[in-house]
Amino acid sequence: MNQDHTDYHARLQAMDDHSVNPSQAESLSSLVNRSRRNVLKGGLALAALGLFGGSLAACQRAAATPASALLGFSGVAAQTASDFDRVIVAPGYTARPFFSWGDGVLPGAPQWQADASDDWQAQLQQAGDNHDGMHYFPLPDAPNDHGLLVINHEYINPTLHTAGLTWFEGPDGSRQRPLDEVRKEQAAHGLSIIEVRRDRNGTWERVSGRYNRRISALTPMAIGGPLAGDARMKTLSDPAGDRVLGTLNNCSMGVTPWGTYLACEENFHNYFFNRDPADYAERPTHRRYAIGNGRNSKYYAWESADRRFDATPYIDQPHAGYVNEPHRFGWVVEIDPFDPHSTPVKRTAMGRLGRECSVVSMGEGGRMAVYSGDDSRGEYVYKFVPAGRFDPASPVANRRLLDEGTLYVARFDADGSGVWLPLIWGQGGLNAANGFVDQQAVLLNARGAADQLGATPMDRPEWVAVHPQTREVYVTLTNNSERGHVYPVDAANPRPDNLHGQILRWNEHNADPAATTFTWDIFLLAGDQPGALDAAGNPVPAHLTGTIQGDIFSSPDGLAFDGAGRLWIQTDSDETAAHTSNTGCNQLLCADPVTREVRRFLVGPWGAEITGITWTPDYRSMWINVQHPGISYPVSDGVSRPRSTTVLVTRDDGGVVGA
Ligand code: FEO
Ligand code: CA
Ligand code: CA
Ligand code: CA
Repeated sequence: MNQDHTDYHARLQAMDDHSVNPSQAESLSSLVNRSRRNVLKGGLALAALGLFGGSLAACQRAAATPASALLGFSGVAAQTASDFDRVIVAPGYTARPFFSWGDGVLPGAPQWQADASDDWQAQLQQAGDNHDGMHYFPLPDAPNDHGLLVINHEYINPTLHTAGLTWFEGPDGSRQRPLDEVRKEQAAHGLSIIEVRRDRNGTWERVSGRYNRRISALTPMAIGGPLAGDARMKTLSDPAGDRVLGTLNNCSMGVTPWGTYLACEENFHNYFFNRDPADYAERPTHRRYAIGNGRNSKYYAWESADRRFDATPYIDQPHAGYVNEPHRFGWVVEIDPFDPHSTPVKRTAMGRLGRECSVVSMGEGGRMAVYSGDDSRGEYVYKFVPAGRFDPASPVANRRLLDEGTLYVARFDADGSGVWLPLIWGQGGLNAANGFVDQQAVLLNARGAADQLGATPMDRPEWVAVHPQTREVYVTLTNNSERGHVYPVDAANPRPDNLHGQILRWNEHNADPAATTFTWDIFLLAGDQPGALDAAGNPVPAHLTGTIQGDIFSSPDGLAFDGAGRLWIQTDSDETAAHTSNTGCNQLLCADPVTREVRRFLVGPWGAEITGITWTPDYRSMWINVQHPGISYPVSDGVSRPRSTTVLVTRDDGGVVGA
């Protein structure tokens, strides 16, 4: 989330980013598809693989061809009018609303009420709010026509309730919330898993099937890895420290080669507070993560109705009440979408961050890495390298791969080289003298450990994408107004007052995801073209111009490669700000990683963020999300009320999207 234009969202935004510190394309595509067909023979779990095809040799062939032919569509214009209320897409394509907040997920779910009068029990059966990262998992009977769509619901909008959020003032001046509203908000968080199918006429529909599931902030989950059962995970209602209710602020995500979904807990800190200033000052697992320490938590004051979110220590209570509850968020949550009765597991070996995403890169012989951005100003880029290797023949062992391994954080050196610094207890000053008493302490305060190791503070790392053939890794650095002030300008974050952001990329040594060194460069700096004029006809200042070749944009966030190596870029900028007068509404663009050309493919309604992207394995059906549209946008049932919505994009001639 972020950068939204309403006062409400502006307030959330201020808290959100708290800083505590071509021609060959066809042959490439068929190569990937051939590899995928072979994979599909392997069965259901492998059918989910989707993204891990191709070879280095194929890429080298592609690089020798006129790569601009990768972008096979005509671009669309930026939309800068504040009454723009549609989705427009490149000529020859159709975008249609597919799945909106409130749509039924579970069989028999109550019909969504246009006045938002549904109660929390109804919400638990309906689509949650603020659709974000998502993934299409093909089903083996018809992979391109039948699958499961898994969609994150990041947070909630005031439109969740008929008259917005209700607040009362408590005796001490704190904000108090009614429990029924809090429960509905908790129910609207999490994820939806829905079965989708294309009928004989080629029309995609949602199916009320046996896989359908809602996961919310109330769903029981297991804690796996080194923190399972640890004293620092125990609470008044979970004395064993191995079970937690729900997941929060699921932003972007990842997919494993064994067919599970990795939901990531981003701005979890805004849901908790610790009102004890002395304790807060001494507790880096709260302070370094910007847990609230005023009269309320920063977002919705759930703690006033649900004690679990009050992380103030109560020393007369078992496990001091819920002081440890914030330790149970900020993790990767592994979910098996094919088993609706499975228990999601929080994978603590991967570290606790404000985690945007968890993107897998598969190397030779099953060696892999999982990349993550920590999206706050001045936070870091991480990767987790499992100790074991992926083995398609060992489905049970694969389920344990994320419980043991090494977490690294990136240092980007000025000469274009880089180092992965391991977060291993006892190394690099990660010892008791510096507050790290064991490996669990390192994982719980991964941010503090990364500080200790001298990692490079970045301009808000968001999504990561791995090139399907070369394994080159790209990350969006969305923006950072504090660059040049709190954080000095450096080679990887070169612009002061960085309001437009950049995309950075690196190659691991020998294209090995587990390598400890890499080389990097900046793919592009977002913003206006040099020499551009703003809406008032004045020259755009130099720090707001970038290096984009083609269509301009601001604040890259969502990022993904398709199978042919097109880089899809989604934006999350504040279109009401002066510096976005030329980029306008948020959008989806497509870039050629070789020629660096960028072309605008789709523009969303005013007030919305464009986020989340997935395809069928043949790349002929694409879904993206319109998150928190600020004004009416015709949603899945035609009712005009602003609702976050998954949008289906297809080419009118049935071809590959973008080709
Ligand atoms: Fe939820 Fe970093 O965007
Ligand atoms: Ca963002
Ligand atoms: Ca978002
Ligand atoms: Ca994001």
